[in-house]
Amino acid sequence: MIIKKFIQKKIIRLLNSEKILKIFFYYHKFFNNKGLKDIGFDFTLKKNRKYIVQDIIDLKKYSKYLEIGCFDDELFNAINIKHKIGVDPVSGGTIRLTSDQFFFGNKEFFDCVFIDGLHTYDQVKKDIKNSLKFLNENGIILLHDCLPNNFYEQATPRCQWTWNGDVWKAIVECRTDKNLDVYTCYADFGIGVIFKRPNKNLLNYPRNNYRELKFEEYHQDPNKLMNIVEYEELKKIL
Ligand SMILES: C[S@@+](CC[C@H](N)C(=O)[O-])C[C@H]1O[C@@H](n2cnc3c(N)ncnc32)[C@H](O)[C@@H]1O
Repeated sequence: MIIKKFIQKKIIRLLNSEKILKIFFYYHKFFNNKGLKDIGFDFTLKKNRKYIVQDIIDLKKYSKYLEIGCFDDELFNAINIKHKIGVDPVSGGTIRLTSDQFFFGNKEFFDCVFIDGLHTYDQVKKDIKNSLKFLNENGIILLHDCLPNNFYEQATPRCQWTWNGDVWKAIVECRTDKNLDVYTCYADFGIGVIFKRPNKNLLNYPRNNYRELKFEEYHQDPNKLMNIVEYEELKKIL
């Protein structure tokens, strides 16, 4: 187990090293990028995730918080709540495991889950599915980095430091589920919001595999796919 954890850590660090990122950048530049302009999302004047997560916790009187992916605990340390758990295989939080390993042995239920681990569609989809299993009635799932501004910010494999990954594809998929109510808050690189309740804005966008969605589709009409709302609007429907 110790050796497995050590190797996992090394792989994550290697994939985020400058040289590897550069190799993937040129790979995307020559083979995948269609040269679309930046969308123009500007988060500078918006509330940040620390404010928003804490505000939701206070408004809903939540007592149990789970954060997946903690890094340097910038968010985790800021959260004031009765009980919190942070899961990260490399740094921060309270449990040194991947989210899959954590959920495998987990028995606890949470009111608020903040998903911010590995930002790939497949992993985020698993994180959402597992979080839904352990979400209290009336709970909420939040996901960081749902609104990439350009192709490189969302390209996988990761090719630069500023990276949302293709979390957005998992949001699009959830928006097509009639049993989930899904929004994207226009703040802090896009905060996905999932409630376990009937979908009030069902998206008709059938796909066999949402991993195959193209950045061009998102770029054409991000609002249609992501159901973007300001935080003030979101507060009214919490
Ligand atoms: C963007 S950082 C998290 C930032 C933090 N949530 C915050 O708001 O300040 C992503 C973290 O996810 C962790 N991570 C990578 N793969 C993971 C996995 N499979 N399960 C859980 N965490 C993972 C990384 O080690 C990294 O620390």
